[in-house]
Amino acid sequence: MAILVLHGPNLNLLGTREPGVYGSVTLAQIDEELNGMAAEAGVARHDDTQAIVINPAACTHTSVALRDALAAVALPFIEVDLSNIHRREPFRHHLYFSDLAEGVICGLGAAGYRLALAHLLERTRS
Ligand code: DQA
Repeated sequence: MAILVLHGPNLNLLGTREPGVYGSVTLAQIDEELNGMAAEAGVARHDDTQAIVINPAACTHTSVALRDALAAVALPFIEVDLSNIHRREPFRHHLYFSDLAEGVICGLGAAGYRLALAHLLERTRS
């Protein structure tokens, strides 16, 4: 069993990118933490995917193509946004994936990834 974690554009800049909005945790630190959680649960994060954690970044608000891809693979996914996009500019209020998602977590910073993975680990066990 595996859970795929997908990071959208510019999230590689986490740590230095607008730390007041996105926090100071780097993407490598987020990945390391998720890998640790997955390893403890005996779950891989690549082949044989059963569920997805995705932060589509700006694609959240723009990408019909990514929406179609998520619909096509028909895997349960949790959408994570580090910032509370509903508090931000109006163009961030439209989400292309949330109605397909099993859940959406936004505004909790890097903790959102951990919560999303914890939920999917629990879900795939039951
Ligand atoms: C984001 C929010 C998006 O609006 C933005 O374009 C991002 C990051 C977040 O994690 O808060 O790149 O997805």
